Amino acid sequence: MVKIAPSILSADFGILREEVIALENSGADLVHFDVMDGSFVPNLTFGPHVLKSIRPYLNIPIDVHLMVKNPVEMIPWFANAGADIITIHAEAVTHLDSALDMIRQHGKIAGVSLNPSTPENVLEYVLDKVDLILVMTVNPGFGGQEFISSQLEKISKIKEMIRGYDIEIEVDGGINPMTAQECAAAGADILVAGTSVFATDEYKQNIDALR
Ligand code: DX5
Ligand code: ZN
Repeated sequence: MVKIAPSILSADFGILREEVIALENSGADLVHFDVMDGSFVPNLTFGPHVLKSIRPYLNIPIDVHLMVKNPVEMIPWFANAGADIITIHAEAVTHLDSALDMIRQHGKIAGVSLNPSTPENVLEYVLDKVDLILVMTVNPGFGGQEFISSQLEKISKIKEMIRGYDIEIEVDGGINPMTAQECAAAGADILVAGTSVFATDEYKQNIDALR
């Protein structure tokens, strides 16, 4: 069954502790933590201090998505603050191979994310170093954008590419009950969703609708 990773980008930051507890109690499999630096993407969110503050209130894994220009410098910050998964953008690093090694050396699950315009072949020679591939189905930076359907083909191609490897495919951006189904059919294992989970106070109902 597909896993659901609500993105706290759409949460009420004034009551973030209550929000993450509610997500876990509503059946979230992971909590997706969107880090934006105002440079790699034109938006600014939160950093390792916020991660450290919410970590004690969650039993489920925290999935850190680094939309930053210098992820290599920040891997230790988020590893020490309690991340379980650390995902970096292929577009942001010169040496993807060694950056992925660094995440595993910190004992974390190593993820790599691709913007919509980035082809999947950048992953070809790092498949033995990756645990998770995050396919962006919007241009990163903001919640509430429209799903880019050309990425369904990319998900299928990656599914084929990782045959025989222990790698999960995660999809992020514009996920609603309809696009969730399309992504799962194309081969996605984990669906990130902000807008559709936080659309109403019924988080459990919204998560179940995606599943
Ligand atoms: C976008 C973020 C996403 C975002 C998804 O840059 O990486 O995780 O929160 O939001 P929705 O579900 O609203 O598209
Ligand atoms: Zn994200």
